Amino acid sequence: MELIDKRREKLLPIARWPSRDEAAASILFSPLRLGPTELRERTWVPAMVPWRATDDGFVTPEVLEWYRRFAQGRPGALVVEATGIRDVPSGPLLRVGHDRYISGLNRLVETVRQASAGQSKLFIQIIDFLAIRRRPTKESFFGRYLNVDLHYRRRLSELLGDSQWQGADEPLVRKSMQRLSEEEIAALLRPMHLESYRFGYRERVTDVDKPHIRDLPSVLPGLFADAARRCAEAGFDGVELHFAHAYTMASFLSALNTRSDGYGGPREQRVRLPLEVYAAVRSKLPSNLVLGCRFLGDEVISGGNRIEDAVFFGVAFAKAGFDYLSISKGGKFEDAKQPKVGAAAYPYTGPSGHECMPTTHIGPPGPFGRNVPLAAAIRRAVREAGCSSLVVTSGGISSFWQAEDILRRGEADLIGAARQSLADPDWFRKTRLGMGERVRRCLFTNYCEGLDQAHRPVTCQLWDRLELPDEGELARTPDRRRWTAPEWSQPEEQ
Ligand SMILES: Cc1cc2nc3c(=O)[nH]c(=O)nc-3n(C[C@H](O)[C@H](O)[C@H](O)COP(=O)(O)O)c2cc1C
Ligand code: SF4
Repeated sequence: MELIDKRREKLLPIARWPSRDEAAASILFSPLRLGPTELRERTWVPAMVPWRATDDGFVTPEVLEWYRRFAQGRPGALVVEATGIRDVPSGPLLRVGHDRYISGLNRLVETVRQASAGQSKLFIQIIDFLAIRRRPTKESFFGRYLNVDLHYRRRLSELLGDSQWQGADEPLVRKSMQRLSEEEIAALLRPMHLESYRFGYRERVTDVDKPHIRDLPSVLPGLFADAARRCAEAGFDGVELHFAHAYTMASFLSALNTRSDGYGGPREQRVRLPLEVYAAVRSKLPSNLVLGCRFLGDEVISGGNRIEDAVFFGVAFAKAGFDYLSISKGGKFEDAKQPKVGAAAYPYTGPSGHECMPTTHIGPPGPFGRNVPLAAAIRRAVREAGCSSLVVTSGGISSFWQAEDILRRGEADLIGAARQSLADPDWFRKTRLGMGERVRRCLFTNYCEGLDQAHRPVTCQLWDRLELPDEGELARTPDRRRWTAPEWSQPEEQ
């Protein structure tokens, strides 16, 4: 408990929470038109992957329970985790790449509708990602993965000062490479192979020598549109296209995208595929559904997009007709930490990842509302361009006056709170009822994110620290943590 108290000292001080009347009169808790729908209030729970789907990507009782719990807090909008648009194995992440997923997702929609008494709008984030492999052992990399071509035979001969390796049997060449020191390996391998050796192989949108990568621009609009159509059939109120972080669409937008087929290079070409995806999805989505996207206000990597790029994209997206733009930051593979052998790189381990989910350990100005200036710059440009798309901000927002001030200053239209809502799914509701003192405040030290990194069911460290009656075996994850936040016996709203 002492440690927790120490961590609490690092949180944004809250002089006082609003009274019920102040909450009722606030911008945060006032309604807002969002495209074809209306939000009851401007509170928003951004997408969070909880690792609770089946290995085939289906909705489970634990997925239902996860979203039911968020819905009880009745945010204005709740966004379902990144959900894969392809029908390919991708571990316990939700999928919507086939019609067989619709009925499970429909149960999710019904669960949220019931738990929020129809008050929260439910959106779903849809994603495409490229292949990434685990970091190989030295034995497997040189024993199997590396293509031992003439170039490598020559390099090995030069390195070892012995020309016999140019014509030696392949198994012998491979064995010899396995005996090289790390320094020799660095001298032997081409940069891309050295990276695969050190980090694990990762596909890039610039690998246009591979037909399935070259053809992404012709394939992705259809895949996104079909997935969005299924989301509409499942009953969601809207769809969010995942154009952020380390995944395919963000990589098309990235300044590191040098494709020369009209889909890379200058900003106008990097934004082309996202706009084509938008058009394809819009054409299949019923007009009463919201369509938004999440993208980066700054990639925070060397040579990557800065706010100027993001402003350009934001205006292009708004002009195209997105109902909302949700602004995130960082979360890239390029600066991720080297994974352990047998593990895959994780895009939230380097400086850009720390910006994506900032903790109390991050440098000035601290984690609280750190990304707001990005959203503010994009919103300003979107308004100056005469567009009305709403802007969602997130990153360390966890208290009422902080959120209210952001809205009052016109820096964003909607307040996203991911980890604070994880720590206490009822926090919006408690605040609205003038019971802010009862909010369980997120500590912003990323225990939850560590579980995400390990691909284990995500929970909050605070859920286990409360003295509550035993909830029985079913309420625990396999490693004995609580599956969901403890229930709050809510007073009736008048
Ligand atoms: C466990 C976990 C899973 C996440 N999964 C997603 C995701 O699926 N899609 C996404 O866009 N962001 C994801 N995020 C990022 C959050 O949506 C959010 O942008 C980030 O945590 C910063 O906001 P916060 O300070 O309010 O938590 C995830 C964050 C966490 C902690
Ligand atoms: S585990 Fe995550 S949600 Fe819980 S207190 Fe820590 S950072 Fe916040």
